[in-house]
Amino acid sequence: MPETLIAIDDLVVEYFTLRGPLRAVDSASLTINQGEILGIVGESGSGKSTLAQAVLRILPPQARIVRGSITYRGRDLAKMSEGELKKIRWKEISMVPQAALNALNPTLRIRDHFIETAKAHGVADKRGVIEKASELLEQVRLDPKRVLSSYPHELSGGMKQRVLIALSLLLDPQIVILDEPTTALDVLTQRFILDLLKELKERLGITMVFITHDIAVIADIADRVAVMYAGQVVEVGNVFDVFYEPLHPYTRLLIKSVPGLKGDIEDMRPIPGSPPDMFNPPEGCRFHPRCPWKFEPCDRFDPSLVKLGDGRIVSCHLYTDKRAG
Ligand SMILES: Nc1ncnc2c1ncn2[C@@H]1O[C@H](COP(=O)(O)OP(=O)(O)OP(=O)(O)O)[C@@H](O)[C@H]1O
Ligand SMILES: [Mg+2]
Repeated sequence: MPETLIAIDDLVVEYFTLRGPLRAVDSASLTINQGEILGIVGESGSGKSTLAQAVLRILPPQARIVRGSITYRGRDLAKMSEGELKKIRWKEISMVPQAALNALNPTLRIRDHFIETAKAHGVADKRGVIEKASELLEQVRLDPKRVLSSYPHELSGGMKQRVLIALSLLLDPQIVILDEPTTALDVLTQRFILDLLKELKERLGITMVFITHDIAVIADIADRVAVMYAGQVVEVGNVFDVFYEPLHPYTRLLIKSVPGLKGDIEDMRPIPGSPPDMFNPPEGCRFHPRCPWKFEPCDRFDPSLVKLGDGRIVSCHLYTDKRAG
């Protein structure tokens, strides 16, 4: 059994908005295991980024963890003080946030991004930081001499993304969370970065969480996958098992919606319907209005999580009801 590094249990995160509370993550349970690449996949608005931000407690001020725990080394990140979290962020768990390409400060050279990041986390030795930065930039196949003295606008999107990956590794974290790290890149650059991440994971022995809306990318990079729908984790399993035999109807349709993953292009079908209004999600199973397999309990009861062995978890009445087939 792989060692669990982070155990998320029954996590609920809400945003307080002018239209009222919006439950972006709802009763999510999930583990992040030592040495793996865990993929988190789901359509836009399913709560992937909110979940990741909750783990590092970098949620925007209008968001609140309402319930649940995030256990890391025997301690609950959800309840930790800001002072204690500071010792963990970046040094033990780091993140490349979504749309990070725009997060680099256009007025700072890349070297200063490394120096400022280290300083913000209590490391003042500039020479040491630049040495480490050069090493990391080489690992992501960039020329440190050129890149460290460049401004962000002098680099391509793929180069900037690699700088951000190097930056996330600056303080030797054990876990790196990458939120849509390849979404804005062309296919070839995306391919290059995926290979690079796999290599870094092996070489540095780190654990990665890779967030994407693209199930094809998950098939390529992840060891295990968690599928999110409307704020809930609806299926978890080893990538091979989930692709070979997706259980949750949403996962089945998600895999069918992508050309080349399974079956012929004629078989390819978009998922019917549209994502729910998160202010007013459907009663019962949140997927039932779009589900071709729905039956009598689905619009009335929220399905519970069913554990099926081999770490396979699914939340669907097909697996809780005897009539399943
Ligand atoms: N700052 C915010 N204020 C209010 N609601 C928010 C805020 N950020 C996100 N939400 C809402 O929370 C839900 C989950 O959003 P989140 O960004 O976590 O989804 P996501 O799965 O990361 O989507 P994407 O694939 O588009 O990045 C959505 O309904 C979104 O509208
Ligand atoms: Mg997101």
